[in-house]
Formats: sequence, structure tokens, C-alpha cells
Amino acid sequence: MTSAAPWWQDTVIYQVYLRSFQDSNGDGIGDLPGLASRLDDLRDLGVQAIWITPFFPSPNADFGYDVSDYCDVAPEYGTLADWDALVRQARQRGMRLLVDFVLNHTSDQHPWFREACSSPQHPRRDWYVWRDGPPDGGPPTNWRSVFGGPAWTHEPRSGQWYYHAFLPQQPDLNWHHPGVRAAMADVARFWLRRGASGFRLDATAFLFEDPAWPDDPDPDRQPPWPLQPFNSNRPENHGVLRELRAVLAEFNAGFDDERVLLGESCTDTLAELRAAYGEQGDEIQLPMNFVYARHWQRDAPFFQRLIDDTQALLHDRTPVSFFSNHDHWRQWSAFGDGVHNDAIARLTAAMTLLQRGTALVYYGEEIGMADLPEAELAAAPLGLSRPRADPRDRARTPMQWDAGPHAGFSLGTPWLPLPRTWGDRHVAAQRADPHSLWHWYRALIALKRDDPALHAGAHWPLHADQSSVLVFGRRSADGTLALVLLNWGEQACEVAVRGLPAGTGPTAEVLLASPPIAAPQRLDRVPLAPYGVAVLRPQGVNA
Ligand code: NOJ
Ligand code: CA
Repeated sequence: MTSAAPWWQDTVIYQVYLRSFQDSNGDGIGDLPGLASRLDDLRDLGVQAIWITPFFPSPNADFGYDVSDYCDVAPEYGTLADWDALVRQARQRGMRLLVDFVLNHTSDQHPWFREACSSPQHPRRDWYVWRDGPPDGGPPTNWRSVFGGPAWTHEPRSGQWYYHAFLPQQPDLNWHHPGVRAAMADVARFWLRRGASGFRLDATAFLFEDPAWPDDPDPDRQPPWPLQPFNSNRPENHGVLRELRAVLAEFNAGFDDERVLLGESCTDTLAELRAAYGEQGDEIQLPMNFVYARHWQRDAPFFQRLIDDTQALLHDRTPVSFFSNHDHWRQWSAFGDGVHNDAIARLTAAMTLLQRGTALVYYGEEIGMADLPEAELAAAPLGLSRPRADPRDRARTPMQWDAGPHAGFSLGTPWLPLPRTWGDRHVAAQRADPHSLWHWYRALIALKRDDPALHAGAHWPLHADQSSVLVFGRRSADGTLALVLLNWGEQACEVAVRGLPAGTGPTAEVLLASPPIAAPQRLDRVPLAPYGVAVLRPQGVNA
């Protein structure tokens, strides 16, 4: 659909956890050529942009989020030539690629950090955050890292401590240092020049720390993330993000090619989320809404309020909705009740994809992939391709493509096993079944892309006469209206929609429904099955 808005508004960004997406050479690890070979599948689903998790050289203390060279591809994922080929092939299919940019920290094996450790006098020493400990020993503050344990590690040669918000193998960069800012801007230019359409920014909240380094009054709080106001969402963040936007602007060639920042902004409130866009909208264009993404409960009133509040507060910004990612539980498992999981997955997908704004889809979500059971993760072997265990790996199992060995992911042994019960849940089977979850996602994505109200229409708050039903409208500039009704209840119901714009007729045609319902529908009694969804086009509103 053509519009005067940048491509990244009201779009769908698909997250590829590269290690688990498609292996091309039988080493059991997904790679860039593997992803390239699956672009047709993603195009057929309707995906318009892909965020690829880190594929840079890394000792894999945190699977690529500990980068030892920002401007290369790790051999296990391919080569720079593979990246270039991927860009070409994605462009041929009208798709854009976002690179995962780890700003807050490098690997402890990055040459910058090695140099910084080599001597307190080294010019790169202050690229990282060093402090002396107190005279009686121990770390400079009692801060804990996001992953548990102290946020400081002792460096024996100099006797100083370095700060790490995450693992000891992920020393924080000192973003006060102009050299760091210039070097990281050059990293951004490197990938933008090589065809990236922008970045997913890792841990953007954590770039600066309280310069007074006060002790944390409650160091044992669970989870230790985020340690506001000491280690995150500091005012200095804004300057860095504005600089980065300016770097992106060097490469913009019009709306159709605007480079974008998708931020892991980790905000706890909608006010913080609004701040992440920048007062002038000149920071992160797409900060992820973690207030939405962290509420894994079947709770219609909560989501009704949150969606209406988010849309009101961000009416001039692009909200970013999602539930699943490589750090979260998969939504099929998290929301599922063990009986209606597929119906609930359709509901959470419709709620996320049909809101105004951009939606993220995590690989495998579209076929209802489940988390690896805890016991199966515990039994999964460690080795060269899986050097360490991480509970988050439960949501990182190999993509289920077809009925072949290892679900078509690899001809070798996958680095992480598939859930034993993956059975016939795979893309090939679901593509062949027009009633599958895959086709449901495809239909939702098509509505978001092509329907005038659901593509760019404003949010129109509505309410239903039943508390289990969440409802909202979307209305285009020419008055075309679409209604989204979601029954979060276990009981079937008939619902009346309230708050419709003046002139809306009493009936509606059905754009999409799960399970299917007949048209036309009376808007004062729309029938919804347990966890049923109806997307309706009221008649008469344009009259
Ligand atoms: C957020 C990433 O999504 C997560 O996987 C990683 O462990 C941390 N940032 C640290 O980089
Ligand atoms: Ca491979």
C-alpha cells in the first residue's frame, strides 16, 4: 500500500534468532545462507522487515551479545559476502534487514577491552568504566548485575574494578568518552553502507550510570533489572540516541528508505516509553513496549486499558507491540491454558498485529511453537556449539520447517534440541492447511498491510458490554472503520459494541474471524466463541 508515511510505521518486523532459524551446512547452527534460503517463506507470510540477532564474532558468553568484532561475521554464521547476498536477496523481495547493535558493552575479548586492560595509561583505558574499590576490599559499590552476581569484576593487573551491567564477560563501554561515541557511530555507518535498514538497539536504557555511584539500598530485589535510577534510563542516554539518529539520517533517501532504530528500551511505565522516542521524536523511532510485553496474563480489562492508554499517549508516535522474543517465554506457552492454546494464540496475534503501530513477530510464533520443557533443557547436552546453559534457551529451539529430520532445520545435530512433542507442528503442514495458525498470521499481516483502516487508521476507543471482551476500532482519514473484538473468556458470548462513531450502521461485514462467523453481523450482538476473534467492517459509517 502506498502512503506518505515512512515504511516502518504500521509494519511487521519478524525477529530471526539466527542460531536457530535455518542451518545451511550441517553444523547444527543456523546461519546467514540458511536465512537467505528461507526468505521466500517469510515473504509469503507477508513479512516486510527482519531483525536478525547478533551474528558478529563473539566468544558466545551471551550468544553474540558479547561482541568481539562489530564489523565482521562470525564464521559459524557465514561471511560478509553472505551478508551482502542476503541484503540483495531481501531487497529483491521488498524486505529490509535490521542489524542487532549491542551498544552498552563489548565482549571482554574485544581488542578495545584487551587494550584497556593492558595498562591504566593506555588511551583506550577510559573507553570502559573503571573504579578503585574501597580500602577495606570488595567492589566499588554493592550493585548487582542484571544476570545476578556483582556488577563489578576485579582486574588483577591494575587492581581496579570494571563495571558490567550484564555478565563479567560484557564490560560496559564508557559512553562519556568521545572516542567510544565516534567508534560506535562508525560501526553504524559500516552496516548502513552495507545495506542495513537500521538497527535493533540492545539494552539502550543502560548506557550511563549515576556519576555519584551511590550504594543500592535494596541490592537483593528480584529481578535486579533495572536498577533505576542508578544504572538505567539516565538523562545522558538521550544525547547518544540523538547522535545515532543523525548518523542514520546521513543514509536516508526518502520515506521509502528511511533508516530506523528499534529499541530494546526496557521501560516500566508508559511515561518512560514516551520519553524513549525523544521529546522531539528524534531518538528511537520504535521503542518496544515492555509494559505490554511483560503482562503474560489472560486479562482483558488490563489490556483494554493499556491499549487505549498507550494509543492515547503515543497518538503522534508509533507504538511497538510484541510478546515473544529470545529473552521471554513464547506466547503460545505463556498465555495458553493447555486446552485452547491455538485459539488463544490467534487472539494474542490479532491484538498485537491489528493495533495501530508496528508489531514484532518472533520466529515460530506463527506456527505456535512452544517453549522447550524445563526438564528437556536440563537434559540437553552442552558442547562446542552450546557452550553454556541458559534458561532463556527454552524459547530458542530450532525452527520447525517440515516433517524431515530435526524439522528441516539442519542435516546435522542441532545446537539445541527441539521439544520432544513438536510432532506435526511445522511450516509445511500449516502452509498446506488453510485453517492453520500460519494462515491466520498471514491474513492478519495482509489486513495490516492492505486494509485502509487497519493499515494506518487512528485508534478509536470502544467498549463492550461484557468484561471478558476487549474491543477497539481503527478509523482511516476517510472514515473507513474496522473493529477488532477479542473474547478473552472461556465462555462463548454475544456482545454489543459501544462508542461507535456517529453514522455507523447497525450491521457489519466480517473481514476475518476465528472461528469463522457468518456475515452480516449485528453490532449489538456479535457472537464470539471461547477465545474467539472477530474483525468487522461496519456498514454505513462513510455515509
Ligand atoms: C538484551 C538481549 O536481548 C539479551 O539477550 C542479552 O542477554 C542482553 N541484552 C545483554 O546484551
Ligand atoms: Ca550452520
